[in-house]
Amino acid sequence: MFTPFKVKSVTIPNRVVMPPMCMYSATEDGLITDWHLVHYGSRAVGGVGLIILEATAVEKRGRLSGNDLGIWDDGHIEGLRRIVEVCQAHGSAVGIQIAHAGRKAWGDELVAPSALAFPGFAVPHALSREEIKETVEHWRQAARRAQAAGFDVLQIHGAHGYLIHEFLSPLSNQRTDEYGGSFENRLRFLLEVVEAVQSEWPEDKPLSVRLSAVDYLEGGLTMEDTVEISRVLKAKGVDLMDISSGGILSARIETGPGYQVPFAEAVRKGAKIPTIAVGLITTAELAQEIIANGRADFVALGRELLRNPYWVLQAAADKEIWPKQYERAIPGR
Ligand SMILES: Cc1cc2nc3c(=O)[nH]c(=O)nc-3n(C[C@H](O)[C@H](O)[C@H](O)COP(=O)(O)O)c2cc1C
Repeated sequence: MFTPFKVKSVTIPNRVVMPPMCMYSATEDGLITDWHLVHYGSRAVGGVGLIILEATAVEKRGRLSGNDLGIWDDGHIEGLRRIVEVCQAHGSAVGIQIAHAGRKAWGDELVAPSALAFPGFAVPHALSREEIKETVEHWRQAARRAQAAGFDVLQIHGAHGYLIHEFLSPLSNQRTDEYGGSFENRLRFLLEVVEAVQSEWPEDKPLSVRLSAVDYLEGGLTMEDTVEISRVLKAKGVDLMDISSGGILSARIETGPGYQVPFAEAVRKGAKIPTIAVGLITTAELAQEIIANGRADFVALGRELLRNPYWVLQAAADKEIWPKQYERAIPGR
């Protein structure tokens, strides 16, 4: 767990990841607040190897909430850069998850591959082919801004029932053009986003995609689909898969500690690509077991790192990663 891992030009100092978690604390214009600096900075001081910033909207209408971070305007770059600098100065690699909420967005401008509503939401507008091109362009511009802000890792949010996942899953995509129907067609939007992002994101920096491995529903995405998608993404030059599950119609199903690890394991073995495992990983024993047995290359701890920003330091009491300011607090000293 404490072994560095090099992805392209970026050395991630250990295998613990803070996964993207919405903080609902940005201004209405998507700008950072002091909350973000303190929140992310604390996890960097706490020794997290890779901090991935929360879902950050590539388009204003793609926000999950009215107080999501934004990356749809050049005016967002400066604030994001401050977060990057704080986290890097304290030893973490730092990434950003760029996102579009699609039919599960906040506000009244819902867009999706098909005019099929998510339960409790209004019926979305089905994107025309022209509008799809415009949307892809927003992802490209977001990647340019992420690079300008200095991020080490870029993650495309393809999970949890948001826009990209809505294209991937037959449950939300019933298009009859080249963006719907066959597996290849449903994958097209994601691949166009990946290509657009790659035209701006430097080749020597890691590109990650987060997917929901399974929809948990008849007729939805399966583990086999996700392994195949990951193979294609690897061939396209994606470096790191982050494997979650659910969200297209149902809530995520949390069955117990490490419940999504087998999904990450299937992707890692089936597509031969580095992976992040996430979901109810809270103990150092489980984290260590996952890494040591090669079930994933990274472990992401979400709510546990909200509860305890110093989880890594506590797990590494005998290691050298404690900040010198806290030396007198190292257990056993
Ligand atoms: C407050 C909160 C906000 C979240 N926001 C996001 C998000 O912006 N993007 C995302 O992909 N997942 C999001 N998630 C899911 C987490 O990244 C993670 O996958 C999930 O919490 C399971 O990990 P855990 O059991 O360690 O918390 C969020 C989770 C929480 C608790």
